Amino acid sequence: MIRICPSILNANFDDLPNEILKVAGHADLLHLDVMDNVFVPNFTFDLEKSLEIIGVSTLPVDVHLMINNPDTEAVKFASANTASITVHFEACEDPLQTLRQIRSKGARAGLAIKPHTPIEVVEDLLPDVDMILVMTVEPGFGGQKFMSEMMPKVEKARNWLKQNSFDEKWIQVDGGISLETIRTAYQAGADTFVAGSAVYRSDNPGEMIDQLRQKAMS
Ligand code: DX5
Ligand code: ZN
Repeated sequence: MIRICPSILNANFDDLPNEILKVAGHADLLHLDVMDNVFVPNFTFDLEKSLEIIGVSTLPVDVHLMINNPDTEAVKFASANTASITVHFEACEDPLQTLRQIRSKGARAGLAIKPHTPIEVVEDLLPDVDMILVMTVEPGFGGQKFMSEMMPKVEKARNWLKQNSFDEKWIQVDGGISLETIRTAYQAGADTFVAGSAVYRSDNPGEMIDQLRQKAMS
């Protein structure tokens, strides 16, 4: 069982309802990249706009918070259609409490790590995490090159989940996922794949999602 999460970072922001429709029926979750121009050198959506997008999405939404101080902000992104909220370990003052607060709102709690952050920071927090996000690019922009050197982190995380029979927890990869790279990430142990430019720069986003799914598993 794998999940494909198209990121709308490379979609047309002026026509998001239509952009979401293009992937509905193919994708599992819609990946919403929230950037504050502080934690990363780019800005996308504030809370109000994010909630508007979550509200119109016909897919459950996977929120990826690339913002400073997510401890106080994360829960505000929870709404009826928010399936998952992911915060960055590097940005949290109290990751454990923040993960627990996200769960208390009924959303899955994700913990993300940037390329320079070792996977070991996640280990003690695992019982309170529903999804580990191993970034395969520096967060901030779409269209960057997949960092295959992150795969040992994915392998280690997969082993921890196996050893502890944490069958309901997911491992997500985000950055540079395409028909060329998805199989590598799947083989390392990822089961949840964000794809931005691969999907939205293709002529047929829905079909591309189907192809990515096939490619991962074949
Ligand atoms: C990057 C974002 C990604 C981005 C991925 O910081 O977190 O979700 O949209 O885009 P691609 O798939 O083009 O690397
Ligand atoms: Zn993302």
